[in-house]
Formats: sequence, C-alpha cells, structure tokens
Amino acid sequence: MRPVTAALITSMMLAGAAFAADPTQPEAIARATLMQEVGRNSKILGDMAGGKSGYDAAAAEAARAALIKAAGEIDTVFATEGAPDDVSEALPAIWTSWGDFTTKSAAFAQAAAGLDTGSAETIKVGMGAIGGSCKGCHSVYRE
Ligand code: HEC
Repeated sequence: MRPVTAALITSMMLAGAAFAADPTQPEAIARATLMQEVGRNSKILGDMAGGKSGYDAAAAEAARAALIKAAGEIDTVFATEGAPDDVSEALPAIWTSWGDFTTKSAAFAQAAAGLDTGSAETIKVGMGAIGGSCKGCHSVYRE
C-alpha cells in the first residue's frame, strides 16, 4: 500500500471515530462544545505551566479570559438536560442537585478569575486550583 493511501484510510477512520463519538442532541452538543472550549484553553495554560510551550503573556491572558467566559456560561448551557443522548457523559444528578452543581461551576469561575498569568510559575500554581475545580465537578457529575 502506498503511504498516501494508508494516510487517507487512517484519516477516514479517525473521522469515522470522531463522528461516532459525537453527541446528537442539541443540549448535549452545546455542553460538549463548551467543555471542549474549556479543555482547549486549559491545555494552553497547562502546556505553558509545564514548559511544553513557551511562556506567552498575551496568550495566557487570552486563555484565562476564555476560561472565565466559559465558566460563566456553564449554568446556562447545562440548565436543560434535553433528550437522552447515548454519547453524553452528563449524569442526571446535575439536574437533581442543581444548586450544588452551580456551586461547582462558581468554584471554577473563581479559580479562573484568581489565576495569575504573570509567569509560567504563577500559572502552574493557578492551574492547580483550576484543575481541582474541574475534578471537583467531573467526579460527581460526569460519567
Ligand atoms: C460545574 C461542572 C464542571 C466543571 C467545573 C468542569 N466541567 Fe468539564 N464537564 C462537565 C460535565 C457534566 C461534562 C459532560 C458533559 C456531557 O457529556 O454532556 C464535562 C465534559 C468535559 C469534557 C468532554 C467534552 C466532550 O467532548 O464531550 C472536557 C474535555 C472537559 N469537561 C474539560 C473540563 C476542564 C479542563 C475543566 C476545568 C478547567 C472542566 N471541564 C470543568 C462538568 C464540568
């Protein structure tokens, strides 16, 4: 098999896998989209904190702003459970313990707001708190 063909087949398989793993209900799609935005910006900061990418003050501040914005959207985006979605990892407890869920989204917003992007070292400290807030919610409300 020529390399180009193998690469094409691999990309088709990856596309198929991504498609199969995508939620189909609008509410679940909105949740996944928001969380992917959170994940993307956390990775930017985590990579800087870990030295995987160079410290970039403007990029760090933009990622922090994106996290604050996303954190502020969680309660709205998660408010409605929607129809059952096979792919969604959201647990029903979100909607039976809504008050606690919003406490956890607020904790994340606070951790993001408290992040000092002044250096890779301060980002590392802040990402500890932010990571704890992700885990604090996921451990209870995500499959
Ligand atoms: C207040 C609760 C809460 C907080 C805080 C939170 N998450 Fe989530 N996250 C969820 C829930 C619930 C899901 C599952 C949503 C679904 O599948 O419908 C999820 C899903 C995800 C996903 C999977 C998205 C996909 O493609 O389906 C990623 C990635 C993610 N979160 C990253 C993060 C990171 C990183 C943080 C912290 C910086 C974070 N989350 C903070 C509740 C939270």
